[in-house]
Amino acid sequence: MVAMSSATNPVAVIGVGRMGGHHARILSTLAGARLVAVVDPDAARADAMAQKYNCQACASIDQLLTLTPKVKAAVVATPTAFHHATASALIDRGVHCLVEKPLAATPQLARQLAEGAAARNIILQVGHTERFNPAVQAVLTMTLPPRFIDVHRVSPMTFRSLDVGVVLDMMIHDLDIVLTLAKSPLTRLDATGVAVIGPHEDVAQARLEFESGCVANLTASRLALRTERRLRLFSEEGFVSLDYQNRDGVIIRRSDNQQALDEVRQALSQGQPLSGMDYSSMVKVDRLNLAPDAVKQDALTAELTSFLQAVAQGTPPVVDAWAGLAAVETAHKIVETLKSHRWEKSIRPVIP
Ligand SMILES: NC(=O)c1ccc[n+]([C@@H]2O[C@H](COP(=O)([O-])OP(=O)(O)OC[C@H]3O[C@@H](n4cnc5c(N)ncnc54)[C@H](O)[C@@H]3O)[C@@H](O)[C@H]2O)c1
Repeated sequence: MVAMSSATNPVAVIGVGRMGGHHARILSTLAGARLVAVVDPDAARADAMAQKYNCQACASIDQLLTLTPKVKAAVVATPTAFHHATASALIDRGVHCLVEKPLAATPQLARQLAEGAAARNIILQVGHTERFNPAVQAVLTMTLPPRFIDVHRVSPMTFRSLDVGVVLDMMIHDLDIVLTLAKSPLTRLDATGVAVIGPHEDVAQARLEFESGCVANLTASRLALRTERRLRLFSEEGFVSLDYQNRDGVIIRRSDNQQALDEVRQALSQGQPLSGMDYSSMVKVDRLNLAPDAVKQDALTAELTSFLQAVAQGTPPVVDAWAGLAAVETAHKIVETLKSHRWEKSIRPVIP
């Protein structure tokens, strides 16, 4: 990787809608960066952001690249359909990129970006922000080989990101986490889904099997009436329940409950009736041990800080393009599978 010399590299945000607005706000406050420009074809939006953060408004990447000094790094927060064209134009001109998730709309385009960045020694990080969630970080540091992972990410319709389905919009976050936890090649996949609002699926359910034997069930919906973002991991060594939204979770370790388990087994072997026992009071449950530094920062600030560090030090990013590609490849297989799911045509839902 090519290391940068200055501690305050000139940076830009491409696409300053909802996510790009957050990136611009945070970048304007971080010590390791100087926000010099925002790019958006919506001139009113670009001007308003530029005024707010005292930087240049640009209508295109070409215009951005005429600025002096040249930007060293950029955040790509355009709609997914433009990630590939935008990021490849930047990578070709030697600009390090943090591309919002999903890395690209198709595996082929995601691979082109990953290979292009690698060939040019460009840092390409992917915006899988949940990796910087302190509860996720706590689970990733544990030695807890998963046997079964169950994930729910459901929320009410926001009418955003409708250019892609719920798999690329929401489930992609969990695919990145599940692939990181499973650490094993995918061997089998099944999926179903339903499109309600437009042509893309709004509800999806996927079952992944890994070479290790680990199985992951993922549910995503953008049509729910409440928000839930939860991951449960079952391992021989224990159980973890992680609440993404509240950045918290609990762990039940087998080793901490060994005595209670032995007593129950002995009682059962002696034929003792246990139906009157209070199960929940027998189980030792601990809160996840979150790193104090991680708790202080919101995940997006941690993600941007990590990206700037990778750029300044020339070190590989925490969520690299290959991880972004793996998530897009898996998401693509899920979408293809749910599209080909066979429905019995003669059965019609009956709504009274
Ligand atoms: N990491 C996360 O948690 C998270 C959450 C939401 C969205 N996202 C991702 O962020 C990206 C943007 O989503 P959003 O909700 O902010 O969308 P948005 O529609 O609010 O904003 C997109 C912006 O990009 C601009 N734009 C469109 N085409 C462009 C182009 N060719 N060049 C430059 N700018 C262009 C639009 O004018 C708009 O201002 C998507 O890829 C989405 O998947 C990530």
